[in-house]
Amino acid sequence: MKFRVRPVRRLAGSAEVPGDKSISHRSALLGALADGATEIHGYLEAEDCLRTITAIQALGAAVTRKGPSHYRIEGAGRHGLREPGNVIDCGNSGTTARLLLGVLAGQPFWTMLTGDESLRRRPMGRVGEPLRRMGAAVVGRSGGSKLPLAVKGTRPLRAITHDSPVASAQVKSAVLLAGLYADGPVSVIEPAPSRDHSERMLRQFGARLLIDERSVTLTPGDLHGTTVSVPGDVSSAAFLLVAATLLGDPGVRIDRVGVNPTRTGVLDVLEAMGARLGREPVSSADDAEPAAALTASASELRATAIGGALIPRVIDEIPALAIAAACARGVTTIGDAAELRVKESDRIAALARELGKMSVRVEERPDGMTIAGPQRFRGARVASGGDHRVAMALAIAGLVAEGETVVEDTACVATSFPQFAATLNALAGTPVVLVED
Ligand code: S3P
Repeated sequence: MKFRVRPVRRLAGSAEVPGDKSISHRSALLGALADGATEIHGYLEAEDCLRTITAIQALGAAVTRKGPSHYRIEGAGRHGLREPGNVIDCGNSGTTARLLLGVLAGQPFWTMLTGDESLRRRPMGRVGEPLRRMGAAVVGRSGGSKLPLAVKGTRPLRAITHDSPVASAQVKSAVLLAGLYADGPVSVIEPAPSRDHSERMLRQFGARLLIDERSVTLTPGDLHGTTVSVPGDVSSAAFLLVAATLLGDPGVRIDRVGVNPTRTGVLDVLEAMGARLGREPVSSADDAEPAAALTASASELRATAIGGALIPRVIDEIPALAIAAACARGVTTIGDAAELRVKESDRIAALARELGKMSVRVEERPDGMTIAGPQRFRGARVASGGDHRVAMALAIAGLVAEGETVVEDTACVATSFPQFAATLNALAGTPVVLVED
């Protein structure tokens, strides 16, 4: 599939974004591990999160789709999962693979996990290493650091403190989930705080957690089914916010977006660049995850520096922000972001290569990039390399370019934001992102 993108002068109106990907995955996994039923509203019905649903079904949880984005999970209980009859295919979804490895480390049976070509290239050793220290067997090619992997637990697992060299919510969550099966409290220390959806949701399901600035400690215990309301995904909203900042005259409003502070680096960065954003809270203090209606309108942008502890809070939004940076006055630097090289693709290389085809210069650095602006985007034929966020960033670039842009290899957008093209077309009031075979 490809996108044929036409330039547009203005975007206006209201939009919704689908449910948060990270929260959706966690709701399905914890629902499967809980005693009793869990109802999930706003579940992201995109390929990645549907992989997690298929996985928990294979492990014995009963799942009913009660309506659009509404699921009911009859939990198998912490000790009730059963051996799956086949290999579990995690598709493109790193979160499915890494969080499942944590759950499976506590099971007394073998499970095999695999994924698509991109996921089979991505590092799994960062999860396998602490799980092995806890007593699980995680074996496979490349010394057990790449999918396909086979995993089997022992009971109980050893309680550990994991001092993670990377700020990764997937690593943290895998160790905490395995911790549900440990013989004592399990702690994870991170170099900078990563997204805390697992912690919030584990508490909602009745788990005992102690949280301080740099560490999280879970005491093993049973989980209890509950009702989860998933807010819209700020990572999907980021593409619309950047587009609206460049073209939003009179402005764009996005309803009910998750604004968990560990995820809102994109709002802070855009504001630092001079973007005119608004935030109206729509959640109550009892909600596990805060949500807000976000607004954005056309703004003159200036360059900024993105690095340090901000990086984990903005990592998935850097492809969108790279487009904003190229339109901003001055030199934007992005550093401390080597993790971008091991996402669904090497996003530093992909952005430099593909934006280069649009005559936009992005200077690659080992751990980030430098982008001087403002630059002119020229319509070109570019390719996503199978990475959904690169595909959507290039489509936004096409909206501000001179002439037509063709983004090849866009089927991947269905992993996180299947309504992306339709949403932009509605905001433009005319078809600007045409989906072609
Ligand atoms: C995610 C954590 C992040 C993020 C990914 C989703 C999660 O990855 O980039 O898109 O749901 O826990 P890392 O844990 O590798 O940083």
